[in-house]
Amino acid sequence: MRNDIDRVVLVGTGAVGCSFAYAMLNQGVAEELVLIDINEARAEGEAMDLNHGIPFAPSPTKIWKGTYADCKEADIVVITAGAPQKPGETRLDLVEKNAMIFKKMIGEIMDSGFDGIFVIASNPVDILTYVTWKFSGLPKERVIGSGTILDTARLRYMLSDYLDVDARNIHAYIMGEHGDTEFPVWSHASIGAQTLEKFMDAHEQYNKKELENIFVNVRDAAYHIIERKGATYYGIGMGLLRLVKAILQNENSILTVAAYLDGEYNHKDVFIGVPAVVNRNGIREIVELNLSTEEQAKMDHSIKVLKETMAPVLD
Ligand code: NAD
Ligand code: LAC
Repeated sequence: MRNDIDRVVLVGTGAVGCSFAYAMLNQGVAEELVLIDINEARAEGEAMDLNHGIPFAPSPTKIWKGTYADCKEADIVVITAGAPQKPGETRLDLVEKNAMIFKKMIGEIMDSGFDGIFVIASNPVDILTYVTWKFSGLPKERVIGSGTILDTARLRYMLSDYLDVDARNIHAYIMGEHGDTEFPVWSHASIGAQTLEKFMDAHEQYNKKELENIFVNVRDAAYHIIERKGATYYGIGMGLLRLVKAILQNENSILTVAAYLDGEYNHKDVFIGVPAVVNRNGIREIVELNLSTEEQAKMDHSIKVLKETMAPVLD
């Protein structure tokens, strides 16, 4: 890691990786972007194509097809490599295949002398973030999964659409597994500084029963998109950019990421989607909300499912 030049290494130049790279180039957040993929020709072609956009970008980014040796001087390694879901598959169905890929890849990255921050997006993201932490030996603060950053964005967008309020003024989180056991934290949702409940009460056209439909559409959004176009990538690409920017620019932003629980929410030894303060050092702290009894039960269940699924792949 160097103090003067920000370098991001992206491992996995498929649909998600390149959506992130494109967003990064468009916002000019780092001086260097290195692309790595097992399919070297693909990584090289993507670097060439992205480079041709540089004259249109707000600031120059040096982009090249690299190797794991380039991770030595990286501030952040973003991993989007691995198999995506096929129609009908759940994220947890990918666990064995992608955990195997990760163990080898993390070893190669650490052999370079990497000492920065990992950002993981490959699925099942909570489990692969744990695998990264375990096999890298890095402190828990420096291993971050995209967690429910995308699900929270989907919730904010869908609430914004229903309530006709700018999504940036909707403060509502999805927590838990990035997957089928995630849950909405209605007990702490607000529109601007007003609680969601009060906001809805003040407008007779809104029906609180609709909130359950909105959540189901958020939870199942990936299935709906994969059925139609085979994969999801723009939303997560922008979400990863948001996270990387919060790190590089030392923003102390609160984002719902997969972070390591060490007693928070009454659990230990698991990475799962929670609100956390993110800055140049990674996770500064987890924001511990006072969940309702029902929400805490959903968190407990989500963690149980993650722990059961991950146990066989941790050796
Ligand atoms: P993709 O198939 O388009 O790209 C995956 C890339 O990984 C390919 O280019 C492939 O060559 C590369 N790869 C595979 N094995 C590798 C290895 N050992 N080393 C280096 N590169 C390797 O898939 P995608 O649509 O980009 O999805 C990537 C991952 O992101 C999937 O696991 C998907 O489920 C996940 N995803 C996560 C979120 C989220 O919110 N966290 C959202 C969408 C997709
Ligand atoms: C998503 C991916 C598939 O879009 O995890 O939620």
